[in-house]
Amino acid sequence: MTERGRTVALVVAAGSGARAGGDVPKQYALVGGKPLLAHALDHLRHRGIDDIRVVIGPGQEELYAAAVGDRALPAPIIGGALRRDSVRNGLEALAREGDVARVLIHDAARPFLPATVIDRLLAALVYAPAAVPVLPVVDTLAHSDGALGDTIGRDGLVRVQTPQAFRFSDILAAHRAWPDNRDATDDAQIARAAGHAIATVPGDPALEKITLPDDFARAEARQTLTTRTGLGFDVHALAEGEELWLGGVQIPHDRGLAGHSDADVLLHALTDGMLGAICEGDIGTHFPPSDPQWRGAASSRFVEHAVALVEARGGRIDHVDMTLICEAPKIGPHREPIRARVAALLRLPPSRISLKATTTERLGFTGRGEGIAAQAIVTIRLPETS
Ligand code: CTP
Ligand code: MG
Repeated sequence: MTERGRTVALVVAAGSGARAGGDVPKQYALVGGKPLLAHALDHLRHRGIDDIRVVIGPGQEELYAAAVGDRALPAPIIGGALRRDSVRNGLEALAREGDVARVLIHDAARPFLPATVIDRLLAALVYAPAAVPVLPVVDTLAHSDGALGDTIGRDGLVRVQTPQAFRFSDILAAHRAWPDNRDATDDAQIARAAGHAIATVPGDPALEKITLPDDFARAEARQTLTTRTGLGFDVHALAEGEELWLGGVQIPHDRGLAGHSDADVLLHALTDGMLGAICEGDIGTHFPPSDPQWRGAASSRFVEHAVALVEARGGRIDHVDMTLICEAPKIGPHREPIRARVAALLRLPPSRISLKATTTERLGFTGRGEGIAAQAIVTIRLPETS
């Protein structure tokens, strides 16, 4: 039966991350441009979870504030020297708040929690006093002191993950009964020691904990990315006495494009396409035409800036498709140099850069040769929660 009261996720983020190394404790280190703790918090947004509380280490307040950004959370709880001390402090803080029926205790060091695991845990808590996600052991297990020792039978063994779900009063009492100064790597051990039966539900490989330095690379690769597209469009007038730059390549022609910067209409459309894909305004937002420093500037700088913004969000550019709209010059002879230049700016192979050209059948301003227009559509992949 479901007890009345709140379901709270308690995230422990008070460790020092000694085994992972790095400049900051691992829960504040970045994966896909975003701190592990922020990933963990965003994955706990679930209709079955009413509130989230975070436990941090003493002195980690600034790192915490930077990691949570504008996420609306109450002040963090201060943890202790051992993991079980941090959990205990969190549980005692929840006890003071009151009205907590269920708690999901989770490691900040597990950034990618699938919603399906939360579903399973909450479903199990309806009939069991506690539930934990587990994975089968598939490799052979053996002792080793450098040389391989005896094999350990893996039948009946599982790997235990977090979050671990408990009826709040049970886990609070179990923690209070646990000996001081003795650590536990998880809370299910503490609940079992108090005599509670713990149900198991299927865990998920995405929940793997970041423990060692190499785990960061695996986490980068494991992020769920969603596809986004951005559309860019630009026009510049053709004028006597100007250079013609298209796609970062100077093209011999009797006239050139006039305007802001070097007026490279194709790179401007490309920049706007990238900015559109990350919802970061347009080229004028970042490089106002009124600012004298951009007069005559190489438009490659705009492209490089947009690439840096995409990368700062943990994004990857997949593909670019561009169209130049003009009567002259003929673009065909310049297609490969432009593709190569754009590919170099985006650090992509030219096979992912498409350049097309069309006339407007002598209609309109492009048809009359008064200007050149360009379009670009940019496909990127971004971490799901960014
Ligand atoms: N944790 C905590 N308080 C502690 C120790 C650990 O809140 N005193 C948290 C960690 O921040 C982490 C989780 O418990 O989110 C799992 O612990 P672990 O992976 O061991 O992290 P660390 O203790 O930080 O790492 P290490 O053991 O390598 O120092
Ligand atoms: Mg530890």
